[in-house]
Amino acid sequence: MRALEPGARGLATLRLAYPPAVAETATESEFGAALLAGLRAYPKRVPCKYLYDAAGAELFERICDLPEYYPTRTELALLGAHREAIAAAMGADAELIEFGAGAGRKVSLLLSALQRPRAYLPIDIAPEALAAGARAVAEAFPAVAVKPLVADYTRALRLPAPAGRRVGFFPGSTIGNFAPDEALAFLRRLAVLLRGGGLLVGVDLVKDPAVLHAAYNDSAGVTAAFNQNLLLRANRELGAGFRPELFAHYAFYHPGARRIEMHLTSLTDQEVQIAGHAIGFAAGETIHTEDSYKYTVSGFQSLAAQAGYLPREVWVDAERRFSLHWLAVPA
Ligand code: AVI
Repeated sequence: MRALEPGARGLATLRLAYPPAVAETATESEFGAALLAGLRAYPKRVPCKYLYDAAGAELFERICDLPEYYPTRTELALLGAHREAIAAAMGADAELIEFGAGAGRKVSLLLSALQRPRAYLPIDIAPEALAAGARAVAEAFPAVAVKPLVADYTRALRLPAPAGRRVGFFPGSTIGNFAPDEALAFLRRLAVLLRGGGLLVGVDLVKDPAVLHAAYNDSAGVTAAFNQNLLLRANRELGAGFRPELFAHYAFYHPGARRIEMHLTSLTDQEVQIAGHAIGFAAGETIHTEDSYKYTVSGFQSLAAQAGYLPREVWVDAERRFSLHWLAVPA
């Protein structure tokens, strides 16, 4: 996953060159404006997309390999075990669109099972990660036309004319980083793009809070570093004066809301300078940096149905931790 901006509106710019040439990452001033606005609000909150600068993206890759962080390996195992059935659901001669391009591992499992895939369009806001993933897929599947697009897929997208029936791939439970109403709006937008095809989406499931707690509070402290990187990023890019050791990583599961909340808690009364502005923090006050919603299988299916999909197959691991949903889109 890269650069979520749930609820964003407006047209995104598409660049079709391979490798993609021009960055469309959040600019420093965009980050500065969003950070200041979020820290002046009460309660303080910063959109989770700003966790993903280059250092944040690298830390997230490390999170994916942590023993406590089960989603990545569980989803990979599901894709591996069910790829023939998934390929049969997706059908032959499809154009595969991935929303948020990863390193290519997950999509390679799909592409190796799909019958005569026509094209692969990874869409991501981070050009470097997009180019690296696209290159890996192009090398592994020379017969597939690989067409990376640098764009914010949470905004309205204008795609090139389809090379085949469009099928979407949205892995990693990135859908969980949207609030449910934002997830509904996002799924509705994708359904328009995928008319006559469908969407394969990875969704993390409601489970024992202890398992969730461990996944977001790993013993090696990588998730804490990922969270605190937001402050380091502000220091690097905006010359802010955060002392990360004065903010503690705090992540917990809220069973009523069915979400992990991630915060940075101020350990003391303090004032931080950000681009010439002084922002005060009381001891114990937090910056809310991310939500990660968890679904039941039926709860996600009803959300998908509300968004205009026909929920079909669902693949779930034996421990019922993670789910992969095939959602058909009527023509
Ligand atoms: C990208 N996203 C699905 C991750 C999640 O689990 O919500 C981001 C993450 N945050 C902390 N650990 C992982």
